[in-house]
Amino acid sequence: MFVWLEDKRRIRRIGRWFGWLSLALVLLTMLTGYGITKFRIVDPLTAGILGKAVSQRWHETVGLLVLAALALHVGIALWSRWRGAQD
Ligand code: HEM
Repeated sequence: MFVWLEDKRRIRRIGRWFGWLSLALVLLTMLTGYGITKFRIVDPLTAGILGKAVSQRWHETVGLLVLAALALHVGIALWSRWRGAQD
């Protein structure tokens, strides 16, 4: 019982980390999105790192990572609440 509570706390902490990761990735998705449509502003603002071509490539990849991180974040959050109601 005690070990289980410790494990559950650890899993919840991992779920929260996925929340922060989701937030960072959502912001990066937005930034790379603007890097495609507003490249004249984003390119110089990021010292040429996020040019139009790089933004286009990253936008797709980061978008998929957002979905994965968010699925884990929401999955763990719901699971821990559901388990909480049980024990
Ligand atoms: C882009 C969408 C989202 C972002 C960026 C996000 C971000 C976060 C972050 C950073 C935390 C941790 C806060 C802390 O450290 O105290 C958190 C906690 C939480 N989130 Fe999200 N979240 C998102 C969507 C969702 C959704 C859709 C759900 C539920 C269906 C959800 C449920 C929760 C719950 C229940 C917690 C508390 C977890 C706990 O205390 O164990 N989140 N979220």
